[in-house]
Order: sequence, then C-alpha cells, then structure tokens
Amino acid sequence: MARTETIEILSSRELDKMRTAGRLAAELLAHLEPMVKPGVSTLELNDEAERWTKAHGATSAPLGYKGYPKSICTSVNEVICHGIPNAKEVLKDGDIINIDVTPLVDGYHGDTSKTFFVGTPSPLAKKLVEVTEKCLMLGIAEVKPGARTGDIGAAIQEYAEAMGFSVVRDFSGHGVHRVFHTAPEILHFGKRGTGKRFRAGMVFTIEPMINEGTWEAEVQADGWTALTKDRKLSAQFEHTVAVTEDGVEILTLLP
Ligand code: MF3
Ligand code: CO
Ligand code: CO
Repeated sequence: MARTETIEILSSRELDKMRTAGRLAAELLAHLEPMVKPGVSTLELNDEAERWTKAHGATSAPLGYKGYPKSICTSVNEVICHGIPNAKEVLKDGDIINIDVTPLVDGYHGDTSKTFFVGTPSPLAKKLVEVTEKCLMLGIAEVKPGARTGDIGAAIQEYAEAMGFSVVRDFSGHGVHRVFHTAPEILHFGKRGTGKRFRAGMVFTIEPMINEGTWEAEVQADGWTALTKDRKLSAQFEHTVAVTEDGVEILTLLP
C-alpha cells in the first residue's frame, strides 16, 4: 500500500542526528556479529542488543512498536523478516540469520540489518546471501537527486532475477527519521522512471529481501514472523541512506 505521508527534507542538524543514530546501529550489528555461532539462542542475541543499546544511552525502537515484543528482529533461514527472538531457537551450523536493529538515539532512528552465516554455509546459502548484499548496493547506487524510487526497485529486481532468485513483494524500504516507518515507500522491484523523485535531504531505508524460491510470503499466527511460502531460504540486508546534493550517503556504515 502506497504511503501517503509527505516526504520530509531533513535539515543539516537533523541529518547529523541521523548520522549519530546510523553509526550506533552499525556499531550494534558489529558488536553482535561475533556472538553468531552454533549454540547461541536468538534470545541471547536480543538480550545483549538490549543491554548494549541502553549502555550507549539509546533505546530499542522495535520494543513495543505496534506491539512487537522484543528489541531486535532475528530471521533464520526460511524467515523473511520480523522473526521474534526466542530462547528455544538455537543457531546451528549452516544456518543463515538476519539481525535487524533500530536504536532510537536522541529522537532519531538508525535502521540496519545484515545476514550472517552460522558456521559454514552451503554453496546455495552463500550465493543467496552474496546476491542479496549486492542487491542492496546496486539499489543504493541508483540514489541521487532527480532519480526515482522505481530505479532502485528495477536495479534490484533485474539482478536478483538474473541470478535465479526472487524479490519479496510484501515488505519494502521506508522513510525513516523521527518516525520509524514513513514515506517514501521503497519497493525492491519495479520499473525505472517510475515513483517519487529523490531530493537532497530525504532519508530512507533500502532493505531487499531475496528468496531462493517463490517470492510469496506467509505471516505466522504470532502476527509478525514472515516465512517463505515454500519454506526455502530468504536473505536480507538493510542500510539507512540520505540523498545528498550529488548522490547518496550511507548513514549505517562503521566509521
Ligand atoms: N527494522 C525493521 C525494518 O527494517 C522493522 C522492525 S519493526 C518490528 O523496518 F516491530 F518488527 F520490530
Ligand atoms: Co530494519
Ligand atoms: Co527498515
């Protein structure tokens, strides 16, 4: 469903706050990465993320957001997104796990995620994860003033499908600043030359979810966990980006 809010143009003061939030989000993911090993539960990852976020003077935006029960999302193997951390879900060799974090820092959100390998991946899992990360970077490369949201979707869809994978349709990137999810909606599929035009000062996420098999998703009874309909693998990477005068700045990179 298309978003109807106005697309905000952030001031340089607000962009600085987004840089601070984005950096903390990237640092949180880097802090969690060494914990991703066989035997760790997704709840342990959640609890460490919550502790670290508080220790850095921030809060976890997902916690309580529209009733979401935890501080991060942990999406393992066939889970597309919004997997809920759970003590009974213990990682094992060969799994892939997307960890999605959104610290809220001084009123601004930094939203980023990566898919990690647990131990040694299968060749197929390795290819899916590598293709998905490249999809994110190809999408980011389209961003500059005057380009359009559809240019991002087309670049991602063309590459993912050429590599034999499919693009999830039911979840999209989104504007992000003081508000967690707002305009513009960033579809990860579509046609060049369509959609909203970018202007310097817009900030949004690009977060392609790429599937091994069908793009169709199914949300579980918990109201959050989205699975692939065919239970094949899904991977995701996400950055928060700002449109600059001559291109794009990734806000969720490590310094
Ligand atoms: N961080 C997710 C995103 O990329 C949103 C999670 S909302 C939650 O947009 F409630 F599930 F946490
Ligand atoms: Co996210
Ligand atoms: Co997001």
